[in-house]
Amino acid sequence: MKVLLVTGGAGFIGSNFINYFLRRNKSYVIVNYDNLTYSGNMNNLREIERSPRYHFVKGSICNQDLVNYIIKRHRPDYIINFASETCPKKSLINPAPFFETNVMGTLTLLDSARYFWGKNNFEGNRFIQVSTDEVYGPVNAKDTYFTEDSAVMPENPYSASKASADLLVKSFSNNYGFPAVISRCCNNYGPNQHIDKFVPSCIKNSILNNPVRLNEDANNIRREWIHVLDHCTALIRILFYGRDGETYNISSGIAASDVELAKKILKTLGKSEDQFETTGTSERQELQYAVNSYKIRNNLNWGHKYNLDDGILETVRWYKENRDWWDKNPD
Ligand SMILES: NC(=O)c1ccc[n+]([C@@H]2O[C@H](COP(=O)([O-])OP(=O)(O)OC[C@H]3O[C@@H](n4cnc5c(N)ncnc54)[C@H](O)[C@@H]3O)[C@@H](O)[C@H]2O)c1
Repeated sequence: MKVLLVTGGAGFIGSNFINYFLRRNKSYVIVNYDNLTYSGNMNNLREIERSPRYHFVKGSICNQDLVNYIIKRHRPDYIINFASETCPKKSLINPAPFFETNVMGTLTLLDSARYFWGKNNFEGNRFIQVSTDEVYGPVNAKDTYFTEDSAVMPENPYSASKASADLLVKSFSNNYGFPAVISRCCNNYGPNQHIDKFVPSCIKNSILNNPVRLNEDANNIRREWIHVLDHCTALIRILFYGRDGETYNISSGIAASDVELAKKILKTLGKSEDQFETTGTSERQELQYAVNSYKIRNNLNWGHKYNLDDGILETVRWYKENRDWWDKNPD
């Protein structure tokens, strides 16, 4: 059996990844290491929690002693780091935890993996740093896309902490031959995402007949959206076929403004599209977050499967059918 250490596996993307990966890769054991912050939820893993191929350990990636213990005891072949503080708005109010977890926590993992894996010259090992397209910042001109070679220009403390962690990972690759790969994905939607995030909160408010409130830039900023399972399949391609030291952008090419998404959600739920309110009109020019994912598509033979209509339909259904999950998970 091979061992995959997943950090932050009780969160949105990590739990979708574990559920998907464990079912399809029978010769793997997964150790999920997560300290269960507000967005970590053990219910996300209830279907596999009794599997003999799944272990959960509660702990922080900032705890060097515990991280050392986990790596020594479970001897992971691979590590995939989802653990992160993830809310850009919260990062504007209190940036410090973002740098503690996203930068210092990543350093803790890298130091420990380097020590234990280095004993065997990193043979058969790989570390995946799950990063975000937000490290590039917004594109200011229409129809331009960031490639993996574009400079990082983060706009807020969250994306600055993720960009810093990426640079740290890169420095381990460059200086120690550490077998790391960085992925940078666009915005995800799908089941298990905390109710205070954009798509789930729109769904919740539509279901409850509350107004869907959007901020003033809702019409002006178009972001790229991908179904979480498409992100997971991309990460699996990277895990098995990626090249050490490389960065791979992951994106769908499907861009939508918050207004367009909110309307889509309301329509899917059979509600009036006028059920949303914006708090004002912004003078800002249209900004777009967009990355070019040619490299992973061409080199690793990956492609996304979900279009936005099907993905949103499935996601809305999930939140409708799992109301106890989000009622118990208040914002
Ligand atoms: N959600 C998106 O749209 C998106 C897009 C691109 C990249 N990403 C990246 O993917 C990763 C996962 O994002 P998500 O949306 O699933 O986030 P999430 O907030 O749902 O999950 C984060 C998980 O990390 C855990 N965690 C936080 N601090 C920890 C610590 N110190 N030690 C151990 N565990 C800790 C939390 O308990 C939670 O389970 C993040 O690195 C994020 O930057 C997310």
